Amino acid sequence: MGFSGTGKVWMNGSLVDWPDAKIHIASHIIHYGSGVFEGARCYQTPKVSAVFRLDAHMRRLYDSAKIYRMEYRVDRPALTEAVLETIRANALKACYIRPIIYRGYEALGVNPLPCPVDAAILVWEWGAYLGPDAAERGVDIKVSSWNRTAPNTFPALAKSVSNYASSALIKMEALLEGYAEGIALATDGYVSEGSGQNLFVVRDRTLYTAPLSGSILPGITRDSVITLARDLGYRVREEAIPREMLYVADEVFFAGTAVEIAPVRSIDKIPVGDGTRGPVTADIQRAFFGVINGEVPDRYGWLTYVYPEEAALRAPTAQPAADRR
Ligand SMILES: Cc1ncc(COP(=O)(O)O)c(C=O)c1O
Repeated sequence: MGFSGTGKVWMNGSLVDWPDAKIHIASHIIHYGSGVFEGARCYQTPKVSAVFRLDAHMRRLYDSAKIYRMEYRVDRPALTEAVLETIRANALKACYIRPIIYRGYEALGVNPLPCPVDAAILVWEWGAYLGPDAAERGVDIKVSSWNRTAPNTFPALAKSVSNYASSALIKMEALLEGYAEGIALATDGYVSEGSGQNLFVVRDRTLYTAPLSGSILPGITRDSVITLARDLGYRVREEAIPREMLYVADEVFFAGTAVEIAPVRSIDKIPVGDGTRGPVTADIQRAFFGVINGEVPDRYGWLTYVYPEEAALRAPTAQPAADRR
């Protein structure tokens, strides 16, 4: 098996061994994509391991579940604590975190309502999503022939399993044609997002990114970039981006939990700027990696320490309140 996994998986309140973390083939999620999930990252900081924006991720998870009428019996604070418990149980210093809430086994009709709402939390070590050089050298991408879903079809604001059927089409097309990623346009023809990451375009030191109405997932990294960029004095505009703006941009970069911040060096074989990482992208990367690596003060309360007592011992100041809204 290519993916050996980790030690323990949290399933409905129990920590079970990775090979035993199974559900029945008749579970509703398998047939109808009735699940919502999150992807967060835990980083090793000089103090102790910390999860980046855990509260924001858990809020989006419960928002996604609400959109799909899934009420999980464990509330958000308790499931948030379960994430930390799962990291501790696996003794991982840095990892990717995947909580999932889904419809389980009861009935096999389309109607999900009779099926139980179950949840699991997986954690595993996951390095650079687009390869070890991506953060510095950038990636070559294409505009996908697939559009993102139209408004009022699949809800883009929900991080739903079903949305990733679209992502898989975009990703496979890009890979099979020799690109690292694909960018999808929305059905109105404006730039939406990558298969698993948001996109920023830089021109004349202004950052542009698609608005929430652009069939995008409201990325937590996107939100962090907007905050950090404004802090650094850049203008940020959330507005419709015409496709051709990609070809005349000074810089383009991806933002997402898996990809972190990765420059794009060409789109449809047209170099972005001079084809190397630009100064604005580098500036944003410095600010972002400074926070996640614990090298600069956590001004926004974005880090949730996995071992808070140990973190408190190593710092005279208390951990700031997390970014719960
Ligand atoms: C389709 C899509 N867009 C954007 C993102 C970026 O979101 P985030 O920064 O919260 O990881 C992701 C990552 O999960 C994604 O799958």
